[in-house]
Amino acid sequence: MSLGVVILAAGKGTRMRSALPKVLHPLAGRPLLRHVLDAAEAVGAARVCVVYGHGGEMVPSTLADAECAWVEQAERLGTGHAVQQALPAMTGVERVLVLYGDVPLIEPETLNRLVADSAETALGLLTMTLADPTGYGRIVRDADGRVLRSVEHKDASDAERAITEVNTGIIVAHRQRLEDWLGRVGNDNVQREYYLTDVIGLATGDGVDVVTAQPETLEEVAGINDRIQLAELERYHQRRTAECLMRRGTTIIDPARIDIRGTLECERDVVLDVNLICEGRVRIGAGARIGPNCLLKDCEIGPGVEVLANCVIEGARVGAGARVGPFARLRPEADLGRDCHVGNFVEIKKSQIAEGSKVNHLTYIGDTEMGRGVNIGAGTITCNYDGANKHRTVIGDGAFIGSNTALVAPVNIGAGATIGAGSVIVRDAPAEQLTLARGRQVTIEGWERPVKKPKV
Ligand code: UD1
Ligand code: CA
Repeated sequence: MSLGVVILAAGKGTRMRSALPKVLHPLAGRPLLRHVLDAAEAVGAARVCVVYGHGGEMVPSTLADAECAWVEQAERLGTGHAVQQALPAMTGVERVLVLYGDVPLIEPETLNRLVADSAETALGLLTMTLADPTGYGRIVRDADGRVLRSVEHKDASDAERAITEVNTGIIVAHRQRLEDWLGRVGNDNVQREYYLTDVIGLATGDGVDVVTAQPETLEEVAGINDRIQLAELERYHQRRTAECLMRRGTTIIDPARIDIRGTLECERDVVLDVNLICEGRVRIGAGARIGPNCLLKDCEIGPGVEVLANCVIEGARVGAGARVGPFARLRPEADLGRDCHVGNFVEIKKSQIAEGSKVNHLTYIGDTEMGRGVNIGAGTITCNYDGANKHRTVIGDGAFIGSNTALVAPVNIGAGATIGAGSVIVRDAPAEQLTLARGRQVTIEGWERPVKKPKV
């Protein structure tokens, strides 16, 4: 049985007070609408159509890679009218599921349940029961508990307003029947809108048995109208992600202070201290520890690694047992071998650093191939850029670079070479030798400090 998904996203989002369309605001680093598109994919939608609002061209252009049809609803005439705009894109599917671009946390399992439970009938409805149902459409049932219709809060009588079962807005309907019902929906109501919810009364009038299902949590069906609700759902989502990690064997010191914007995979016994932000795809090996205030983006941290406080690691790989930070920055293509140490105020870009090498303080290493067991003194800089081109530095196994050295690339430092502190190295330094490039120290015999002339 093929399923089509229509996602309504034509709302103005006035209360966001934003130049960005509401459904493009990020939750866990991805646009709200992206979450809904993912849910549609997860339920195996054969076709997806997003209804976006007038002037909202930024929506399809931002999500141009999504496999869906885009339909502009030029005038916002109501949810029923909006779904109608999407029906031409639904040809060929048997049933249509309606979702909302500003309801990002809907669970595919809930949708699957709704779709399965209503498989034998033409209309399924996701409802929930709220202590305070104000504002929502109410589900009116007959004495036997069968759904009769849904009535919008604004159109409801006092008796109907006392009903606590409300419409989440999410429905699944037989496509052809839906087309027929929508054709019969009018706008004779308080808001002068074509209500999607009116199809419920039309269906029961046609003798259709309306089946309802409920979500596991209210957050699943919570819509976002302003930045306060956005922040609330963000925290809820982050909490759940953290709980998922903890259940699988990760220690999170404070699950209220972690943000996963992408995917984080941890092997067992990883410890994550507070204020970690992960972006893109991050993998952390067994027993690794991440100190407070770190940003990890698209990187791989090996087993047993210790990342100390305040590090930024992006597009990098850190080998098993290495120690990084505090205050280190690993940039794209930094590749640290086993047991390396990269210390404070060190920046590494596009460089391989082999096993056991140490770059402990105040250093920039760029476009470098470094062997094993190298020791880089404090304040060493690879001068990799001449203003036009980038050049490589090669440092052999076991080399020792004295503090405050400038390695002017392209340059090779041989294996076991020692470079005297304060050198500016512009030519290759041979293996196993001491190379110095600095002014010789002299002491001037009998020199005396000038003294001020006494005033007359
Ligand atoms: C709707 C339901 C209500 C339900 C509530 C749950 C209707 C008539 N009412 O009310 O029963 O309890 O959701 O939150 O469906 N939209 C469009 N084009 C339009 C109108 C709306 O794309 O012409 C989109 C909006 O962007 C929004 C969604 O549909 O994301 C819901 O529209 P809204 O007008 O806010 O309906 P509610 O009053 O919330
Ligand atoms: Ca709404």
